[in-house]
Amino acid sequence: MTYARIAGTGSALPERVISNAELAAKVDTSDEWIAERTGIRQRHIAAEGQTTGDLAFAAATAALQAAGVDASEIDLIVVGTTTPDLVFPSTACLVQHRLGANGCAAFDVNAACSGFIYALTVANQFIRAGTAKTALVIGAETLSRFLDWSDRATCVLFGDGAGAVVLKAADEPGILSSHIHADGGYKELLWNPVGISAGFKDEPNHGLRVIMQGRDVFKVAVKTLDRVVEETLEANNLDRHQLDWLIPHQANLRIIEATAKRLDMPMDRVIVTVDKHANTSAASVPLALDYAVRSGKVQRGQLLLLEAFGGGFTWGSALLRY
Ligand code: ACO
Repeated sequence: MTYARIAGTGSALPERVISNAELAAKVDTSDEWIAERTGIRQRHIAAEGQTTGDLAFAAATAALQAAGVDASEIDLIVVGTTTPDLVFPSTACLVQHRLGANGCAAFDVNAACSGFIYALTVANQFIRAGTAKTALVIGAETLSRFLDWSDRATCVLFGDGAGAVVLKAADEPGILSSHIHADGGYKELLWNPVGISAGFKDEPNHGLRVIMQGRDVFKVAVKTLDRVVEETLEANNLDRHQLDWLIPHQANLRIIEATAKRLDMPMDRVIVTVDKHANTSAASVPLALDYAVRSGKVQRGQLLLLEAFGGGFTWGSALLRY
């Protein structure tokens, strides 16, 4: 049996950090309000001209170095993003060329905040099927580009960044299972109303912005993550106490704590980066994973549960032995 194993991780964050206090000078909010409701203290914001592809490239380079893998060995690049540099070529193609991995398959996956879990799932299938031996999986975003910076209900929640993993075919797990789902019926609880073939407006930023019914998103996210976590445990015949680490999507500390409670996991076994990164959408899980690996928290052989929930709605999980 062939499995996909994480050979290396990497991440990248823009230099510019915006604290809650700095935001509070621009919109009617406060550090207390943001921290109490979300756990967020600051976010990194891309510099002018710095793109999703730039962050993805930096994260990928770090992951390849950590894995000891040369770009020429890559068979597949999958990038989870909702904020691609261009409509086309895909961000995956742009990154591929910069890495010098020309010739391998490369494409983007748009599943909003679940983008990395979706991308990981796709790459895992390629490796399990024997059609790729080495895959680069990236989650990268510059959500700051389409936030409405005058809307306090949304602009305080998000940040920019990228995370990446190199997957290699191995005889031992690796990724044990992944589960991805979507329900497009929830479109209007969390969406951006502008695209290429619909919604373009003759107004600043073409009308691009995040529209969110925060309270409803919160409720559905908690319930749905509970379900996908149960699904993962059942599929692997696993007791929740066997997990070493929960590496959740970093949107809101209260959502993270609810999932940890469901798993009966103390918070010191949960990777939390939302305070420093805010919600970086598809980048949030691989950023948290890279932080967990590089800080020495996550060790080889440990059992990790990754999960995410986001616009669509989309959601998913991956259980893996690191
Ligand atoms: N600063 C100060 N006050 C604010 C702010 C702000 N930044 N934003 C909203 N408020 C006000 C509202 O206007 C409202 O005022 P009112 O009572 O006078 O009308 C009050 O605060 C309460 O607003 P709610 O939206 O009901 O606040 P809530 O407790 O639900 O917290 C939040 C809002 C943090 C967005 C929460 O609903 C949440 O986290 N939801 C999940 C959404 C999420 O994480 N989305 C990210 C994408 S999806 C995902 O990744 C899971």
